[in-house]
Amino acid sequence: MPIAFALHLLAAMAWVGGMTFALLILRPAAGTLDMPMRVALWSRVLNRFIPLVWVAVITLPATGYWMIFQGFGGFVALGLHIHVMQAAGWVMIGLFLLAYFRGFLPMHRMLRELLIPEAGLYIERLRRIMQVNLVLGILVLSVAGAGRYW
Ligand code: HEM
Repeated sequence: MPIAFALHLLAAMAWVGGMTFALLILRPAAGTLDMPMRVALWSRVLNRFIPLVWVAVITLPATGYWMIFQGFGGFVALGLHIHVMQAAGWVMIGLFLLAYFRGFLPMHRMLRELLIPEAGLYIERLRRIMQVNLVLGILVLSVAGAGRYW
């Protein structure tokens, strides 16, 4: 249980923290670069960040349900905040899959064919999905942390 809880927190930190850094810090800073440089930068950033998110989207439900079944005795006695976390967590995971298959993979296809502006359009799509996920992630973290005091 303590290991599962620690892994759960680390996964949430890596995912939501990474999105916060990417959207609130890196994006405005990279905005001054010209388009080919920006696309090159974002493709390298995403190549490192996306595998980390894969680890997080597997770790979060795996450790979450481990805690539910090993520590809380199943779904019967769960607090409302855990139901909310779980539901919003699956929406976040669904959006990540959308960003991966409809943004990240096509971006790579465009880059292989040296279609830089088109790759930029897919990065833009990925960014919009990530923005929604960041808002959801902040809500989930607030609910997860404060929920026990409801
Ligand atoms: C996908 C399904 C998920 C399940 C089944 C799940 C389940 C759980 C459970 C059982 C706990 C322990 C609650 C407690 O001790 O009161 C927990 C805590 C937590 N979860 Fe999740 N979770 C999920 C997704 C997420 C996501 C997507 C995030 C954030 C991105 C997240 C962030 C947290 C945090 C920050 C805590 C610690 C709350 C505290 O202070 O006790 N979880 N989760």
